[in-house]
Amino acid sequence: MITNKLAVEALNNTGISVLKSLKGKHVLVTGTTGFVGKVIIEKLMRDVPDIGGIYLLIRGNRQHPTAESRFMHEVASSSIFETLQHDASQAFERFCRQKIHCVTGEVTERHFGLNTADFNTLINKVDVVVNSAASVNFREALDQALLINALSLYNIAEFSQLAGHIPVLQVSTCYVNGFNQGDLAENNVAPTSGLIVYDANGYYKVEALIDELQNKISVLKDSFTGSELDDQLVALGIGESNRFGWNDTYTFTKWMGEQILRKALKGSALTILRPAIVESTLIGPVPGWIEGIKVADAILMAYAREKVTFFPGDPQGIIDIIPADLVANSVILGVAELLHQTDKTSEGESLEPQHRVYQCCSSGSNPVTIAQMIKLVQLEADENYQQHEKLFYRKPKRPFMMVSKSVFLGMMSAMKLPLLAVNKVGKWFGRDIQSKTLDNIETAMNLSTVFSFYSEPKYRFHNEQLMALSNRIDVAERSLFPVDARLIDWDRYMRKIHIPGLNRYALKERTLKKGNVNVDEPKSKAA
Ligand SMILES: NC(=O)c1ccc[n+]([C@@H]2O[C@H](COP(=O)([O-])OP(=O)(O)OC[C@H]3O[C@@H](n4cnc5c(N)ncnc54)[C@H](OP(=O)(O)O)[C@@H]3O)[C@@H](O)[C@H]2O)c1
Repeated sequence: MITNKLAVEALNNTGISVLKSLKGKHVLVTGTTGFVGKVIIEKLMRDVPDIGGIYLLIRGNRQHPTAESRFMHEVASSSIFETLQHDASQAFERFCRQKIHCVTGEVTERHFGLNTADFNTLINKVDVVVNSAASVNFREALDQALLINALSLYNIAEFSQLAGHIPVLQVSTCYVNGFNQGDLAENNVAPTSGLIVYDANGYYKVEALIDELQNKISVLKDSFTGSELDDQLVALGIGESNRFGWNDTYTFTKWMGEQILRKALKGSALTILRPAIVESTLIGPVPGWIEGIKVADAILMAYAREKVTFFPGDPQGIIDIIPADLVANSVILGVAELLHQTDKTSEGESLEPQHRVYQCCSSGSNPVTIAQMIKLVQLEADENYQQHEKLFYRKPKRPFMMVSKSVFLGMMSAMKLPLLAVNKVGKWFGRDIQSKTLDNIETAMNLSTVFSFYSEPKYRFHNEQLMALSNRIDVAERSLFPVDARLIDWDRYMRKIHIPGLNRYALKERTLKKGNVNVDEPKSKAA
């Protein structure tokens, strides 16, 4: 018995060591000014201190023209680093000084817009790329979404090749599965429309698709200008996404990004890591850390502020939420596996570079329905709304209900038409009687346009491959990098972690304007 146990442990311990695989290695990471990127960097700094270095590719902006300045003001100053700074402030500063390398560049440009000398330095230093940069706006203008979510992958692939076929980890999304339904495994996604076909080598013909889309973009650019052009480009993105098999421009272009990498990195190692809806951290660096208002939270906020009391959706649908630290850990495990393989190959083992897909998600292994989520939010609102004063201004008076999309649209127009008429009469007498109710209807309609696909889920994402990877990790390190969604107790997560986290980290202090309540809310982001 004891012998067997020892044998199993010995076997387990021949697994991949994250700490050894990353020791002395240099990682190029994009998207670190964003939510997920920050969680990845923090975890690497906290728990992989022997990493060789982290290169951050950051574009300059108006306020901070250099990557270094953006890192100082937008990344290092983030509340996610409070724990590190509190526990080991000198180590944190030393790590920033010695191991963080800020590179001002544009991932959307060839050679990242760097001069030859800087680009060559980068290709000589970096061992692995983590690409997290993306436009996560569901309704991005098609030309912009194509640029960052699809075309920039050619630059990433070229960088990998020039750096010596180094491996790439692409942060994608489970929602590249588009209109596919049912149980969705960690595979390449076939578009439901059947309109995108394979080439002779078994790759989807993405170049032809992109050419077709670019032609349509050019026609619009010849015909429209200004905000009218912007609206047309957004509408084109949604129309084409729906036609080809996706709900929105974000997920359609992210699918194209995956396909570009698959083909361009033939013969090199590629890991596609697809998170579901990423929300606040479960465990580290603190439970509940989050930045910005994400998909599900925009609806939660609208309910908390009593702007929306019913919404289109399927209460029995399974929503897929995954805490950000489990996503960061999955990225790190994926990177460790890629580097482990590189090491084995350089030691003489003949290992074919592989293309892998991992889904970091909860719906397959720890499902929670939308109705359960709503119940938890309402319970917290009823019992403890005063503890979350930036989220709830008072106890919401009405319950939140899910109705079918057709019922929702019918209810909205039935409410809106008479209000518009009354308002018109009111305005003749200088009074804007119903504008608040009209605003609320507008909020609900806008939210439903963007999010109703996500509140009527007809799919469950599975993560067996990710769990198998976790089981290949050195047994002593597994608990340092947990990725298993079964760790989530939904009641505790929503009520004791996520809602307090939103209140503490994502929402600004409430500001009052001359008798009127006014909120200074952060910009709502989708994902
Ligand atoms: N958040 C989620 O729920 C979720 C779910 C599934 C998958 N993901 C994936 O996770 C990754 C990170 O998402 P996130 O939530 O961290 O998004 P985020 O907070 O919006 O951050 C996006 C990052 O991408 C960069 N970026 C955007 N447009 C760019 C452009 N044109 N050129 C260069 N950089 C650009 C941003 O840089 P700037 O600051 O310079 O704009 C920022 O660093 C994405 O690949 C996304 O698809 C996210």
